[in-house]
Amino acid sequence: MSTLLKRVKKLPKNFVWGAATAAYQVEGNTNLDGKGKIMWDDYLKSQGNFSPNPACDFYHRYPEDLKLAHNLGLNAVRISIAWTRIFPNGYVTNKPNEAGVKYYHRLFHECLKNNLVPYVTLHHFDSPKTLFDQGDWLNREMINEFVKYADFCFQEFAEVDNWFTINELISLAMCQYIQGTFPPNKLFDVSDAIQAQHNELVAHAKVVNLFKAKGYKGRIGLIHVIQPVYPATNSEADRHAADLRDAFMNRFLLDGTLLGFYSDRTQHLIKEILVANNAELKILPEDLEILKQASKQNDMLGINYYQNQTVASYEGPSETYHNGNGKKGSSIFAFHGVGKDVRNPAIPTTDWDWNIYPEGLYDVLKRIEHDYPDYPVIYITENGMGAKEAWDSSKQYLDDDYRIDFIDQHLAAILKARNEGVNVQGYFLWSLQDQFSWSNGYNKRYGLIYVDFASQDRHLKRSALWFKALSKTMQ
Ligand code: NOJ
Repeated sequence: MSTLLKRVKKLPKNFVWGAATAAYQVEGNTNLDGKGKIMWDDYLKSQGNFSPNPACDFYHRYPEDLKLAHNLGLNAVRISIAWTRIFPNGYVTNKPNEAGVKYYHRLFHECLKNNLVPYVTLHHFDSPKTLFDQGDWLNREMINEFVKYADFCFQEFAEVDNWFTINELISLAMCQYIQGTFPPNKLFDVSDAIQAQHNELVAHAKVVNLFKAKGYKGRIGLIHVIQPVYPATNSEADRHAADLRDAFMNRFLLDGTLLGFYSDRTQHLIKEILVANNAELKILPEDLEILKQASKQNDMLGINYYQNQTVASYEGPSETYHNGNGKKGSSIFAFHGVGKDVRNPAIPTTDWDWNIYPEGLYDVLKRIEHDYPDYPVIYITENGMGAKEAWDSSKQYLDDDYRIDFIDQHLAAILKARNEGVNVQGYFLWSLQDQFSWSNGYNKRYGLIYVDFASQDRHLKRSALWFKALSKTMQ
Protein backbone atom coordinates (compact mmCIF):
# COMPACT_ATOMS: atom_id res chain seq x y z
CA MET A 1 0.00 0.00 0.00
CA SER A 2 2.71 2.45 0.95
CA THR A 3 3.95 2.44 -2.67
CA LEU A 4 0.81 4.41 -3.43
CA LEU A 5 2.06 7.38 -1.46
CA LYS A 6 3.43 10.37 -3.33
CA ARG A 7 4.54 13.71 -1.87
CA VAL A 8 2.85 13.29 1.48
CA LYS A 9 4.23 10.27 3.27
CA LYS A 10 2.81 10.76 6.71
CA LEU A 11 -0.16 12.40 8.39
CA PRO A 12 0.29 14.24 11.68
CA LYS A 13 -0.78 12.38 14.79
CA ASN A 14 -4.45 12.91 15.72
CA PHE A 15 -5.15 14.57 12.40
CA VAL A 16 -8.84 14.72 11.56
CA TRP A 17 -9.03 12.71 8.34
CA GLY A 18 -12.48 12.81 6.88
CA ALA A 19 -14.74 13.25 3.91
CA ALA A 20 -17.73 15.52 3.43
CA THR A 21 -21.36 15.29 2.37
CA ALA A 22 -24.40 17.57 2.44
CA ALA A 23 -27.97 16.47 3.14
CA TYR A 24 -29.63 17.46 -0.14
CA GLN A 25 -26.76 16.13 -2.21
CA VAL A 26 -26.78 12.64 -0.71
CA GLU A 27 -30.02 11.79 1.08
CA GLY A 28 -32.52 11.68 -1.79
CA ASN A 29 -36.05 10.85 -0.57
CA THR A 30 -36.93 14.52 -0.59
CA ASN A 31 -40.63 13.81 -0.02
CA LEU A 32 -40.32 11.05 2.51
CA ASP A 33 -41.32 10.96 6.18
CA GLY A 34 -42.77 14.44 6.30
CA LYS A 35 -39.79 16.36 4.87
CA GLY A 36 -40.80 19.87 3.83
CA LYS A 37 -39.83 21.57 0.59
CA ILE A 38 -36.68 23.62 0.21
CA MET A 39 -35.68 26.32 -2.25
CA TRP A 40 -34.57 23.71 -4.81
CA ASP A 41 -37.50 21.29 -5.16
CA ASP A 42 -39.87 23.24 -7.41
CA TYR A 43 -37.05 24.96 -9.20
CA LEU A 44 -35.36 21.69 -10.23
CA LYS A 45 -38.71 20.28 -11.28
CA SER A 46 -39.47 23.27 -13.46
CA GLN A 47 -36.02 23.08 -15.06
CA GLY A 48 -36.47 19.36 -15.72
CA ASN A 49 -32.74 18.77 -16.16
CA PHE A 50 -32.13 16.55 -13.18
CA SER A 51 -33.78 15.49 -9.97
CA PRO A 52 -32.41 15.46 -6.41
CA ASN A 53 -33.76 11.92 -6.21
CA PRO A 54 -32.42 9.36 -5.72
CA ALA A 55 -29.01 11.02 -5.16
CA CYS A 56 -27.12 8.38 -3.14
CA ASP A 57 -30.21 7.32 -1.19
CA PHE A 58 -28.10 8.08 1.86
CA TYR A 59 -31.36 8.38 3.80
CA HIS A 60 -31.47 4.58 3.72
CA ARG A 61 -27.95 3.57 2.76
CA TYR A 62 -25.98 5.52 5.34
CA PRO A 63 -24.95 2.33 7.21
CA GLU A 64 -23.22 1.03 4.07
CA ASP A 65 -21.50 4.32 3.25
CA LEU A 66 -20.33 4.90 6.81
CA LYS A 67 -18.97 1.40 7.03
CA LEU A 68 -17.01 1.97 3.82
CA ALA A 69 -15.73 5.26 5.25
CA HIS A 70 -14.58 3.49 8.37
CA ASN A 71 -12.90 0.75 6.32
CA LEU A 72 -11.06 3.40 4.34
CA GLY A 73 -9.46 4.67 7.52
CA LEU A 74 -11.48 7.85 7.95
CA ASN A 75 -11.92 9.09 11.52
CA ALA A 76 -14.46 11.84 10.82
CA VAL A 77 -17.27 12.68 8.46
CA ARG A 78 -18.95 15.94 7.58
CA ILE A 79 -22.72 15.76 7.22
CA SER A 80 -25.52 18.29 7.30
CA ILE A 81 -28.96 18.30 8.82
CA ALA A 82 -31.86 19.08 6.49
CA TRP A 83 -33.75 21.79 8.38
CA THR A 84 -37.05 20.77 6.72
CA ARG A 85 -36.78 17.18 7.89
CA ILE A 86 -37.04 18.59 11.41
CA PHE A 87 -39.31 21.60 10.83
CA PRO A 88 -41.05 20.97 7.49
CA ASN A 89 -42.03 24.55 6.71
CA GLY A 90 -38.99 26.11 8.33
CA TYR A 91 -40.86 27.70 11.24
CA VAL A 92 -39.73 26.31 14.54
CA THR A 93 -42.57 24.98 16.65
CA ASN A 94 -42.69 22.74 19.69
CA LYS A 95 -43.78 19.90 17.42
CA PRO A 96 -40.73 18.86 15.43
CA ASN A 97 -41.20 16.15 12.82
CA GLU A 98 -40.44 13.02 14.78
CA ALA A 99 -39.35 10.93 11.79
CA GLY A 100 -36.72 13.51 10.89
CA VAL A 101 -35.42 13.80 14.44
CA LYS A 102 -35.16 10.02 14.71
CA TYR A 103 -33.37 9.76 11.38
CA TYR A 104 -30.59 12.08 12.51
CA HIS A 105 -30.22 10.27 15.84
CA ARG A 106 -29.81 7.01 13.91
CA LEU A 107 -27.34 8.63 11.54
CA PHE A 108 -25.16 10.15 14.30
CA HIS A 109 -25.29 6.91 16.22
CA GLU A 110 -24.08 5.02 13.15
CA CYS A 111 -21.21 7.51 12.70
CA LEU A 112 -20.09 7.01 16.27
CA LYS A 113 -20.45 3.24 15.98
CA ASN A 114 -18.00 3.41 13.05
CA ASN A 115 -15.59 5.64 14.97
CA LEU A 116 -16.36 8.55 12.67
CA VAL A 117 -16.65 11.84 14.52
CA PRO A 118 -19.59 13.73 13.00
CA TYR A 119 -18.95 17.38 12.06
CA VAL A 120 -22.43 18.71 11.47
CA THR A 121 -23.51 21.67 9.32
CA LEU A 122 -26.88 23.30 10.02
CA HIS A 123 -27.42 25.10 6.71
CA HIS A 124 -25.90 23.79 3.47
CA PHE A 125 -27.57 25.68 0.59
CA ASP A 126 -30.99 24.35 1.65
CA SER A 127 -33.25 27.11 2.95
CA PRO A 128 -36.81 25.99 3.70
CA LYS A 129 -39.11 26.95 0.82
CA THR A 130 -41.50 28.98 2.99
CA LEU A 131 -38.70 31.16 4.32
CA PHE A 132 -36.99 31.30 0.93
CA ASP A 133 -40.21 32.66 -0.60
CA GLN A 134 -40.17 35.45 1.95
CA GLY A 135 -36.69 36.62 1.02
CA ASP A 136 -34.41 33.91 2.36
CA TRP A 137 -31.41 35.46 4.17
CA LEU A 138 -32.47 38.92 3.01
CA ASN A 139 -35.36 38.73 5.44
CA ARG A 140 -34.34 38.98 9.06
CA GLU A 141 -37.11 36.61 10.05
CA MET A 142 -34.94 33.89 8.53
CA ILE A 143 -32.25 34.78 11.07
CA ASN A 144 -34.67 34.40 13.98
CA GLU A 145 -35.95 31.03 12.78
CA PHE A 146 -32.41 29.81 12.10
CA VAL A 147 -31.36 30.65 15.65
CA LYS A 148 -34.33 28.71 17.04
CA TYR A 149 -33.67 25.74 14.75
CA ALA A 150 -29.99 25.71 15.79
CA ASP A 151 -30.95 25.87 19.46
CA PHE A 152 -33.29 22.91 18.98
CA CYS A 153 -30.50 20.88 17.32
CA PHE A 154 -27.96 21.63 20.07
CA GLN A 155 -30.41 20.50 22.71
CA GLU A 156 -31.72 17.47 20.87
CA PHE A 157 -28.53 16.11 19.31
CA ALA A 158 -26.32 16.12 22.36
CA GLU A 159 -24.30 13.29 20.81
CA VAL A 160 -22.80 15.82 18.36
CA ASP A 161 -19.74 17.74 19.54
CA ASN A 162 -18.76 19.68 16.43
CA TRP A 163 -21.12 22.14 14.81
CA PHE A 164 -20.85 24.40 11.81
CA THR A 165 -23.61 26.95 11.31
CA ILE A 166 -23.61 27.85 7.60
CA ASN A 167 -21.72 26.56 4.57
CA GLU A 168 -20.04 28.85 1.99
CA LEU A 169 -21.90 32.14 2.35
CA ILE A 170 -20.17 33.62 -0.69
CA SER A 171 -21.03 30.72 -3.03
CA LEU A 172 -24.65 30.96 -2.05
CA ALA A 173 -24.71 34.73 -2.58
CA MET A 174 -22.75 34.57 -5.85
CA CYS A 175 -24.90 31.81 -7.31
CA GLN A 176 -28.20 33.32 -6.12
CA TYR A 177 -27.64 37.00 -6.84
CA ILE A 178 -24.62 37.50 -9.11
CA GLN A 179 -24.29 34.54 -11.49
CA GLY A 180 -27.92 33.46 -11.45
CA THR A 181 -27.26 29.74 -11.15
CA PHE A 182 -29.14 29.09 -7.88
CA PRO A 183 -32.73 30.17 -7.20
CA PRO A 184 -33.87 32.98 -7.29
CA ASN A 185 -31.42 33.27 -10.26
CA LYS A 186 -30.68 36.98 -10.12
CA LEU A 187 -27.85 38.52 -12.13
CA PHE A 188 -25.43 41.02 -10.64
CA ASP A 189 -27.69 42.22 -7.85
CA VAL A 190 -24.87 43.53 -5.68
CA SER A 191 -27.14 44.85 -2.92
CA ASP A 192 -28.76 41.46 -2.39
CA ALA A 193 -25.47 39.57 -2.63
CA ILE A 194 -23.73 41.63 0.02
CA GLN A 195 -26.78 42.02 2.27
CA ALA A 196 -27.43 38.27 2.31
CA GLN A 197 -23.84 37.64 3.41
CA HIS A 198 -23.99 40.25 6.14
CA ASN A 199 -27.27 38.82 7.41
CA GLU A 200 -25.84 35.30 7.41
CA LEU A 201 -22.84 36.54 9.40
CA VAL A 202 -25.28 37.99 11.94
CA ALA A 203 -27.22 34.71 11.99
CA HIS A 204 -24.01 32.78 12.59
CA ALA A 205 -22.94 35.19 15.31
CA LYS A 206 -26.28 35.00 17.10
CA VAL A 207 -26.08 31.21 17.09
CA VAL A 208 -22.51 31.25 18.45
CA ASN A 209 -23.50 33.67 21.20
CA LEU A 210 -26.46 31.49 22.14
CA PHE A 211 -24.36 28.30 22.06
CA LYS A 212 -21.93 29.84 24.53
CA ALA A 213 -24.51 31.60 26.70
CA LYS A 214 -26.45 28.37 27.16
CA GLY A 215 -23.26 26.44 27.88
CA TYR A 216 -23.75 23.74 25.26
CA LYS A 217 -20.85 21.33 25.20
CA GLY A 218 -18.72 20.92 22.10
CA ARG A 219 -17.40 23.33 19.53
CA ILE A 220 -18.91 25.67 17.01
CA GLY A 221 -17.72 27.43 13.86
CA LEU A 222 -18.52 28.64 10.37
CA ILE A 223 -17.41 27.50 6.92
CA HIS A 224 -16.02 29.85 4.28
CA VAL A 225 -14.82 28.92 0.84
CA ILE A 226 -11.80 31.07 0.11
CA GLN A 227 -10.70 31.77 -3.45
CA PRO A 228 -7.47 33.74 -3.34
CA VAL A 229 -7.43 36.43 -5.99
CA TYR A 230 -4.29 37.26 -7.97
CA PRO A 231 -3.91 40.23 -10.33
CA ALA A 232 -3.56 39.39 -14.03
CA THR A 233 -0.57 41.72 -14.33
CA ASN A 234 1.44 43.82 -11.96
CA SER A 235 -0.22 47.03 -13.16
CA GLU A 236 -1.77 49.22 -10.50
CA ALA A 237 -5.20 48.89 -12.12
CA ASP A 238 -5.12 45.07 -12.07
CA ARG A 239 -3.80 44.98 -8.52
CA HIS A 240 -6.63 47.23 -7.42
CA ALA A 241 -9.21 45.10 -9.27
CA ALA A 242 -7.84 42.02 -7.48
CA ASP A 243 -8.17 43.84 -4.15
CA LEU A 244 -11.77 44.73 -4.89
CA ARG A 245 -12.64 41.20 -5.93
CA ASP A 246 -10.90 39.84 -2.86
CA ALA A 247 -12.87 42.20 -0.61
CA PHE A 248 -16.11 41.00 -2.15
CA MET A 249 -15.25 37.29 -2.11
CA ASN A 250 -13.09 36.89 0.99
CA ARG A 251 -12.21 39.88 3.16
CA PHE A 252 -15.73 40.95 3.99
CA LEU A 253 -16.57 37.52 5.36
CA LEU A 254 -13.26 36.88 7.11
CA ASP A 255 -13.42 40.29 8.81
CA GLY A 256 -17.04 39.80 9.87
CA THR A 257 -16.26 36.38 11.31
CA LEU A 258 -12.80 36.79 12.82
CA LEU A 259 -12.62 40.50 13.70
CA GLY A 260 -16.30 41.03 14.41
CA PHE A 261 -16.28 44.24 12.38
CA TYR A 262 -15.38 45.35 8.87
CA SER A 263 -11.95 46.96 8.93
CA ASP A 264 -11.50 50.45 7.46
CA ARG A 265 -9.75 49.00 4.44
CA THR A 266 -12.54 46.46 3.86
CA GLN A 267 -15.22 49.14 4.24
CA HIS A 268 -13.38 51.35 1.80
CA LEU A 269 -13.16 48.62 -0.86
CA ILE A 270 -16.75 47.46 -0.36
CA LYS A 271 -17.96 51.04 -0.59
CA GLU A 272 -16.21 51.43 -3.92
CA ILE A 273 -18.00 48.31 -5.21
CA LEU A 274 -21.36 49.50 -3.89
CA VAL A 275 -20.98 52.92 -5.50
CA ALA A 276 -19.90 51.44 -8.84
CA ASN A 277 -22.96 49.21 -8.86
CA ASN A 278 -25.42 51.68 -7.39
CA ALA A 279 -25.99 49.27 -4.54
CA GLU A 280 -26.41 49.54 -0.78
CA LEU A 281 -25.79 47.56 2.39
CA LYS A 282 -27.80 48.05 5.57
CA ILE A 283 -26.05 47.33 8.84
CA LEU A 284 -28.08 47.78 12.03
CA PRO A 285 -26.19 49.25 15.00
CA GLU A 286 -26.83 46.13 17.09
CA ASP A 287 -25.37 43.87 14.37
CA LEU A 288 -21.87 45.02 15.15
CA GLU A 289 -22.23 44.25 18.85
CA ILE A 290 -23.41 40.75 17.96
CA LEU A 291 -20.57 40.17 15.49
CA LYS A 292 -17.99 41.44 17.93
CA GLN A 293 -19.14 39.17 20.73
CA ALA A 294 -19.21 36.10 18.49
CA SER A 295 -15.81 36.78 16.92
CA LYS A 296 -14.17 36.01 20.25
CA GLN A 297 -16.11 32.79 20.75
CA ASN A 298 -15.69 30.77 17.54
CA ASP A 299 -14.07 27.44 18.34
CA MET A 300 -13.30 26.44 14.78
CA LEU A 301 -13.00 27.89 11.31
CA GLY A 302 -13.87 25.68 8.36
CA ILE A 303 -12.07 26.52 5.12
CA ASN A 304 -13.24 25.08 1.82
CA TYR A 305 -10.72 25.44 -0.95
CA TYR A 306 -11.11 24.58 -4.61
CA GLN A 307 -9.40 27.17 -6.76
CA ASN A 308 -7.91 30.63 -7.19
CA GLN A 309 -9.01 33.52 -9.39
CA THR A 310 -7.00 35.71 -11.72
CA VAL A 311 -8.55 39.13 -12.19
CA ALA A 312 -7.96 42.12 -14.47
CA SER A 313 -9.32 45.63 -14.14
CA TYR A 314 -12.72 46.10 -15.80
CA GLU A 315 -15.19 48.96 -16.08
CA GLY A 316 -17.55 47.61 -18.76
CA PRO A 317 -21.00 46.13 -18.13
CA SER A 318 -21.36 43.04 -15.96
CA GLU A 319 -21.82 39.75 -17.76
CA THR A 320 -21.17 36.05 -17.25
CA TYR A 321 -19.60 34.04 -20.02
CA HIS A 322 -17.80 30.81 -20.65
CA ASN A 323 -14.16 30.46 -21.24
CA GLY A 324 -14.71 29.00 -24.69
CA ASN A 325 -12.13 26.25 -24.18
CA GLY A 326 -14.57 23.42 -24.82
CA LYS A 327 -14.77 22.37 -21.18
CA LYS A 328 -18.09 22.54 -19.44
CA GLY A 329 -17.39 24.61 -16.42
CA SER A 330 -18.40 27.27 -14.04
CA SER A 331 -19.09 30.49 -15.83
CA ILE A 332 -16.53 33.17 -15.31
CA PHE A 333 -17.52 36.78 -15.40
CA ALA A 334 -16.84 40.39 -16.01
CA PHE A 335 -18.09 42.31 -13.00
CA HIS A 336 -18.54 46.03 -13.36
CA GLY A 337 -16.04 47.73 -11.05
CA VAL A 338 -15.05 44.41 -9.43
CA GLY A 339 -12.67 43.07 -12.09
CA LYS A 340 -12.88 40.61 -14.93
CA ASP A 341 -11.85 36.94 -14.71
CA VAL A 342 -9.00 35.98 -16.98
CA ARG A 343 -7.27 32.67 -17.55
CA ASN A 344 -3.73 32.15 -16.47
CA PRO A 345 -2.53 29.67 -19.11
CA ALA A 346 0.13 28.34 -16.74
CA ILE A 347 -2.54 26.95 -14.41
CA PRO A 348 -4.06 23.58 -15.36
CA THR A 349 -7.81 23.06 -15.04
CA THR A 350 -10.19 20.20 -14.21
CA ASP A 351 -12.76 18.64 -16.58
CA TRP A 352 -15.06 21.35 -15.28
CA ASP A 353 -12.67 24.18 -15.96
CA TRP A 354 -11.74 24.85 -12.35
CA ASN A 355 -8.15 25.94 -11.78
CA ILE A 356 -5.84 23.46 -10.08
CA TYR A 357 -3.66 25.64 -7.90
CA PRO A 358 -2.57 24.07 -4.59
CA GLU A 359 -0.25 27.01 -3.80
CA GLY A 360 -3.42 29.05 -3.36
CA LEU A 361 -4.39 26.96 -0.35
CA TYR A 362 -1.01 27.58 1.26
CA ASP A 363 -1.48 31.30 0.60
CA VAL A 364 -4.95 31.26 2.16
CA LEU A 365 -3.70 29.62 5.35
CA LYS A 366 -0.73 31.98 5.70
CA ARG A 367 -2.99 34.94 5.06
CA ILE A 368 -5.41 33.97 7.82
CA GLU A 369 -2.54 33.57 10.25
CA HIS A 370 -1.11 36.92 9.22
CA ASP A 371 -4.28 39.03 9.01
CA TYR A 372 -6.25 37.43 11.86
CA PRO A 373 -3.74 36.33 14.50
CA ASP A 374 -6.54 35.33 16.92
CA TYR A 375 -8.05 32.83 14.46
CA PRO A 376 -9.45 29.63 15.96
CA VAL A 377 -8.32 26.14 14.94
CA ILE A 378 -8.76 25.58 11.21
CA TYR A 379 -10.18 22.52 9.48
CA ILE A 380 -10.13 22.17 5.73
CA THR A 381 -13.80 21.28 5.51
CA GLU A 382 -13.82 20.76 1.73
CA ASN A 383 -11.28 20.30 -1.02
CA GLY A 384 -11.58 18.01 -3.99
CA MET A 385 -11.76 17.54 -7.72
CA GLY A 386 -14.87 17.10 -9.84
CA ALA A 387 -14.40 14.86 -12.88
CA LYS A 388 -16.31 13.06 -15.61
CA GLU A 389 -16.03 9.41 -14.73
CA ALA A 390 -17.64 6.13 -15.76
CA TRP A 391 -17.42 2.77 -14.07
CA ASP A 392 -15.71 0.06 -16.09
CA SER A 393 -16.89 -3.28 -14.77
CA SER A 394 -13.86 -5.10 -16.18
CA LYS A 395 -11.69 -3.30 -13.64
CA GLN A 396 -11.49 -3.71 -9.90
CA TYR A 397 -11.16 -0.01 -9.14
CA LEU A 398 -11.87 3.18 -11.04
CA ASP A 399 -8.55 4.79 -11.94
CA ASP A 400 -8.53 8.34 -10.67
CA ASP A 401 -4.83 9.05 -10.35
CA TYR A 402 -5.57 12.68 -11.21
CA ARG A 403 -7.61 12.90 -8.00
CA ILE A 404 -4.84 11.32 -5.93
CA ASP A 405 -2.46 13.89 -7.38
CA PHE A 406 -4.88 16.70 -6.68
CA ILE A 407 -5.41 15.76 -3.04
CA ASP A 408 -1.76 14.93 -2.48
CA GLN A 409 -0.65 18.34 -3.77
CA HIS A 410 -3.21 20.18 -1.68
CA LEU A 411 -2.39 18.16 1.39
CA ALA A 412 1.30 18.95 0.89
CA ALA A 413 0.39 22.66 0.82
CA ILE A 414 -1.60 22.30 4.05
CA LEU A 415 1.17 20.43 5.83
CA LYS A 416 3.71 22.99 4.70
CA ALA A 417 1.64 25.78 6.24
CA ARG A 418 1.12 23.65 9.34
CA ASN A 419 4.85 23.00 9.69
CA GLU A 420 5.32 26.75 9.58
CA GLY A 421 2.93 27.12 12.49
CA VAL A 422 -0.57 27.53 11.04
CA ASN A 423 -3.02 25.70 13.29
CA VAL A 424 -4.73 23.30 10.85
CA GLN A 425 -5.98 20.13 12.46
CA GLY A 426 -7.84 18.26 9.80
CA TYR A 427 -8.92 17.66 6.25
CA PHE A 428 -12.27 16.63 4.77
CA LEU A 429 -12.27 15.57 1.16
CA TRP A 430 -15.21 16.67 -0.92
CA SER A 431 -16.67 14.13 -1.21
CA LEU A 432 -17.15 10.77 0.45
CA GLN A 433 -19.21 9.29 -2.36
CA ASP A 434 -20.30 10.71 -5.73
CA GLN A 435 -23.26 12.96 -5.07
CA PHE A 436 -25.91 15.14 -6.62
CA SER A 437 -24.34 18.38 -7.84
CA TRP A 438 -26.40 21.59 -7.57
CA SER A 439 -25.78 22.77 -11.11
CA ASN A 440 -24.58 19.61 -12.86
CA GLY A 441 -26.80 16.83 -11.58
CA TYR A 442 -25.05 13.49 -11.67
CA ASN A 443 -22.31 14.20 -14.21
CA LYS A 444 -19.77 15.77 -11.96
CA ARG A 445 -18.18 13.24 -9.67
CA TYR A 446 -16.06 14.07 -6.64
CA GLY A 447 -16.21 10.91 -4.53
CA LEU A 448 -13.73 8.43 -3.15
CA ILE A 449 -16.55 5.99 -3.74
CA TYR A 450 -18.14 5.69 -7.18
CA VAL A 451 -21.93 5.57 -7.05
CA ASP A 452 -23.94 3.97 -9.83
CA PHE A 453 -27.01 6.15 -9.37
CA ALA A 454 -29.32 3.73 -11.22
CA SER A 455 -28.46 0.57 -9.28
CA GLN A 456 -27.12 2.38 -6.20
CA ASP A 457 -24.07 0.08 -6.27
CA ARG A 458 -20.92 1.46 -4.73
CA HIS A 459 -17.42 0.86 -6.19
CA LEU A 460 -14.11 2.04 -4.87
CA LYS A 461 -11.91 4.44 -6.77
CA ARG A 462 -8.15 4.14 -6.53
CA SER A 463 -8.10 7.39 -4.53
CA ALA A 464 -9.96 5.51 -1.78
CA LEU A 465 -7.05 3.08 -1.46
CA TRP A 466 -4.63 5.96 -1.31
CA PHE A 467 -6.75 7.62 1.38
CA LYS A 468 -6.62 4.41 3.37
CA ALA A 469 -2.87 3.99 2.95
CA LEU A 470 -2.32 7.48 4.23
CA SER A 471 -4.64 7.00 7.22
CA LYS A 472 -2.35 4.21 8.39
CA THR A 473 0.61 6.55 8.60
CA MET A 474 -1.00 8.38 11.50
CA GLN A 475 -0.42 5.64 14.07
C1 NOJ B 1 -19.01 23.51 -2.28
C2 NOJ B 1 -20.28 23.07 -1.66
O1 NOJ B 1 -20.27 23.15 -0.28
C3 NOJ B 1 -20.78 21.72 -2.13
O2 NOJ B 1 -22.12 21.65 -1.83
C4 NOJ B 1 -20.47 21.57 -3.59
O3 NOJ B 1 -21.06 20.45 -4.17
C5 NOJ B 1 -18.98 21.59 -3.79
N1 NOJ B 1 -18.47 22.86 -3.37
C6 NOJ B 1 -18.51 21.35 -5.20
O4 NOJ B 1 -18.92 22.37 -6.04
